[in-house]
Amino acid sequence: MREIVLLIGGGGREHAIARSLASSEADLYACAGNRNPGIARLATGFETLETTDPEAVVAYAEEIDATIAVIGPEAPLDAGVADALEEAGVYAFGPKQADARIETDKAFQRRFMADNDIPGCPDFETFDDMEAACAFIDEYDGDLAIKPAGLTGGKGVKVIGDQVTPEEGKEYIRESEYDRIVLEERLIGEEFTVQAFVANDTFETAPAVQDHKRAYEGDEGPNTGGMGSYTDSTRELPFMTEGDYEEAVSIIEATVDALEDYRGILYGQFMLTSEGPKVIEFNARFGDPEAMNTLPVLETDFLEVLTAARDGEAVPDLEFAEQATVCKYAVPEGYPTDPTAGAKVKVDEESAGEALLYYASVDERDGGIYTTTSRSFAVVGLADSITEAEEIAEDALAVAGDDGLHMRHDIGKPDLVQQRIDHIEELRGE
Ligand code: AMP
Ligand code: GLY
Repeated sequence: MREIVLLIGGGGREHAIARSLASSEADLYACAGNRNPGIARLATGFETLETTDPEAVVAYAEEIDATIAVIGPEAPLDAGVADALEEAGVYAFGPKQADARIETDKAFQRRFMADNDIPGCPDFETFDDMEAACAFIDEYDGDLAIKPAGLTGGKGVKVIGDQVTPEEGKEYIRESEYDRIVLEERLIGEEFTVQAFVANDTFETAPAVQDHKRAYEGDEGPNTGGMGSYTDSTRELPFMTEGDYEEAVSIIEATVDALEDYRGILYGQFMLTSEGPKVIEFNARFGDPEAMNTLPVLETDFLEVLTAARDGEAVPDLEFAEQATVCKYAVPEGYPTDPTAGAKVKVDEESAGEALLYYASVDERDGGIYTTTSRSFAVVGLADSITEAEEIAEDALAVAGDDGLHMRHDIGKPDLVQQRIDHIEELRGE
């Protein structure tokens, strides 16, 4: 039987998922709130709908007789779209609402780690009373990270001693009107992501990725959804040892064991500290941009992972090409605080040359593609080394030009990669 796969979501991450399924023996359909031109070209059908409306998604899944669904973003997971699809008899590769709480409720996530003795959990306290949280900041000996418990698109966290002073932190807590926050020990080190493909109590991990959250070069400016990311041709990154990667995998293993019957992607965001990897957070889906580093080098057919998951089998052994990748996002000028939409995108999948082009939040109209107020598109270079992959990505950005666009040219460049290596050596006292 030919599978009919419904992809839910319309960002760069979902364009990467669509491309990885386009060469599989499946009919691909997609639905999203925005019409992503890259996905629309690859899919047999594309429906614009509210992906956080489980009934709308189920109605489309039934209309196309979907046999499997893949949920890209966190918002539909939080809205119970996986649960609704399952009730309608469509297997969803993505956790149910209760399991997605590992991402959608950071207070739950920290308690879950503590209750299950999962290694790598920083010291933390959760607060419903914002004045009690402010008092805790005054009393605590050291810097804290302030984290709203709910979803904020990666933009809600404020780190004292890094982005804000204790006074600014308290002001943020008092002004933001969050119902619940987590205060936790500030971790110092280098961040990396390990994504696991999970089903039927088995999992396989992908090579480590380093994302760049800050908007401006040199890791300055506000946090974003992610400005770009890289992988090496090995499982670990240049600033990590194989042992660091294995330690992160063992934290994921303990988490998968504790989460009963989790399915989909479990994304571990780690800080490599002087004491080894600690968990910054878990996400219940692929990262965006990290999916664009991972899926282009996945040599195993992603459809095989999906059908094995649905059929109650173990996740198949995953093969990844031994290539480095560098992904860079182009975002509208002023993003994320004051973005200006409406710039015409001057690069397409052909003129991107050797690089892969992934569309994110763009509008296709009047024969052109235009930016909106979120991340616009990403380019990805693949090569034997990070340096070569970076050059391929830059060549594509040069075609795009920078009219109305902003990008971080430093991501993946030798200088920045070396700074990460030096930082870890310094922390380890080498
Ligand atoms: P999150 O939304 O949890 O991914 O957090 C956004 C960013 O805040 C992370 O990528 C880190 O850079 C930073 N962050 C979060 N938690 C901590 C922590 N405990 N210590 C230091 N930085 C943190
Ligand atoms: N790149 C970070 C995220 O997807 O949450």
